[in-house]
Amino acid sequence: MSDGTVAAVRGVSFEIPEGAFLTLLGPSGCGKTTTLRCVAGLEAPDSGEIHIGERLVFSGSQGVAVPAYKRGVGMVFQSYAIWPHMTVFENVAFPLVHGGFRVPRSQVKERVRKALELIGLAELGSRPAPLLSGGQQQRVSLARALVYEPRLLLLDEPLSNLDAKLREEMRLELRELIDRLKISTLYVTHDQEEALVLSDRIAVMRDGQILQEGSPREIYLDPLNPFVASFVGKANFVDGSVEGQKDERGGIAIRTSLGQLICAPRLDLTIGEQVSVVFRPEDVHVRTDSSGHDRNTFPGVVERVIFVGNKILCEIRVGSVLVQSEINARFKLQQGGKVTVEISPECIGVIRHKQ
Ligand SMILES: Nc1ncnc2c1ncn2[C@@H]1O[C@H](COP(=O)(O)OP(=O)(O)OP(=O)(O)O)[C@@H](O)[C@H]1O
Ligand SMILES: [Mg+2]
Repeated sequence: MSDGTVAAVRGVSFEIPEGAFLTLLGPSGCGKTTTLRCVAGLEAPDSGEIHIGERLVFSGSQGVAVPAYKRGVGMVFQSYAIWPHMTVFENVAFPLVHGGFRVPRSQVKERVRKALELIGLAELGSRPAPLLSGGQQQRVSLARALVYEPRLLLLDEPLSNLDAKLREEMRLELRELIDRLKISTLYVTHDQEEALVLSDRIAVMRDGQILQEGSPREIYLDPLNPFVASFVGKANFVDGSVEGQKDERGGIAIRTSLGQLICAPRLDLTIGEQVSVVFRPEDVHVRTDSSGHDRNTFPGVVERVIFVGNKILCEIRVGSVLVQSEINARFKLQQGGKVTVEISPECIGVIRHKQ
């Protein structure tokens, strides 16, 4: 915008079916937290509508803005926002005693006990909050969000402060818990693996907009956009132009600087159309012999080999293109060695240049 205003979020639209887990995935600054805060009622968009269940909680045109404490959503902030001067019990009880979700005093103890039990901290109720580990703090903030049984759970990068191992454990635990409780969940992360593991659906965001929404499989295996392909996993990109009609096996020839590639795109393409072909490193097969002249088979030279334990990452020069490949760790490859590279048609995505 010319006046220097930045729109943190523009035209974002999504729906979470009851009980489903939707993740907003995108790089830092793309508008994930802002979107979450709009849903929670902590931020008011300039226009648009937000419904939670059957209820309209925000409408720019109708002047509706239900305050945060009346929206019935539980939120876990990235920083956890745990009160350091309180015990675990007092932290979890807070929304029931002081917040917008007050319940009769006689119910507080039982509700907190249930919430702590749910997240496996029943024994720690009397512990002062500063004496908790990162993972335990994360659980307490989750218990606090769950204690009033919200219809919608909002989670803003809840695992990002944990070390890698704990993060992986908590990921599975979290998904199990949410499945059990059947709460609709809106999750925010910049970690693609986390999004793939946890979500029913993923919306990939950039610059305040959603670029693609789909199941984890669709987002990873069928990206519709170069940004989505490269942000969610690694990808090879090669520009090309459509050379022929679909053949009887559903393949279509695309002329690229690798050579002619046969792809099996879901799109209807026209001859001469400019496209990018995209394929994942794990779908590039490497052989040290030069037998066979199958479709999508090219001679190459190994430029780089990086052993990373569970696999080998390598770069293979095919003409002017440097192809990235991931292969089995036990495969022996020499830098400078001659190889054959093969990519099967069904592993190749096609992205239109002008959409
Ligand atoms: N209160 C604010 N005032 C001005 N700009 C803001 C404010 N809050 C966010 N922004 C800007 O809006 C954009 C989106 O911010 P947001 O916090 O939603 O991003 P994010 O996707 O959550 O990023 P991160 O992964 O770093 O948390 C950024 O450019 C940010 O600088
Ligand atoms: Mg954020």
